[in-house]
Amino acid sequence: MIWKGEILWEKNNYNCKYTAWGSWKSPSSPYLKYTWEFLEIFSKGDLKHQGKKENIDISAEEFKKFVIAKWSIAPEQNMKKYGHPAMFPEKLVRQALKLFSFKNDIILDPFNGVGTTTAVAKHLNRRYIGIDISKKYTDIAQKRVNEMIIENNIF
Ligand SMILES: C[S@@+](CC[C@H](N)C(=O)[O-])C[C@H]1O[C@@H](n2cnc3c(N)ncnc32)[C@H](O)[C@@H]1O
Repeated sequence: MIWKGEILWEKNNYNCKYTAWGSWKSPSSPYLKYTWEFLEIFSKGDLKHQGKKENIDISAEEFKKFVIAKWSIAPEQNMKKYGHPAMFPEKLVRQALKLFSFKNDIILDPFNGVGTTTAVAKHLNRRYIGIDISKKYTDIAQKRVNEMIIENNIF
């Protein structure tokens, strides 16, 4: 795999809980809060991902926006609904798939949880494979692709 770059996912979650581990308001060991995560981008075999022109579905506006490698996207709001504590927001998956994959590509998520990647992949006319160690989660993921449940905040 060839490293291609990284995207800073700014979650803007400034309301997250403060954790002090016994050093509240003390310089002894202040616990740092991060409002962001990184997406690491790797390419298989060649830096260029080949595909047919007719399978490109990203608009010029989206392309200009998504290649700027800082994405400001709120964390997933529906984790209680799906019963999973660490879901991707659909918008994050949508941007990644549109920028880095062609229609009909195969999208693999080996830690698919409740299936955000596979649901969005299906929505965007990609093929998909989702794996998770938890049967409970794969059942929910399966239901999500079967019923094509996509939340409204994806665009
Ligand atoms: C951060 S969650 C992914 C959530 C997913 N992106 C979503 O939106 O629902 C990571 C997932 O990895 C799964 N997992 C942990 N260890 C695993 C393993 N060895 N093989 C497959 N899945 C595993 C967990 O069950 C968990 O659902």
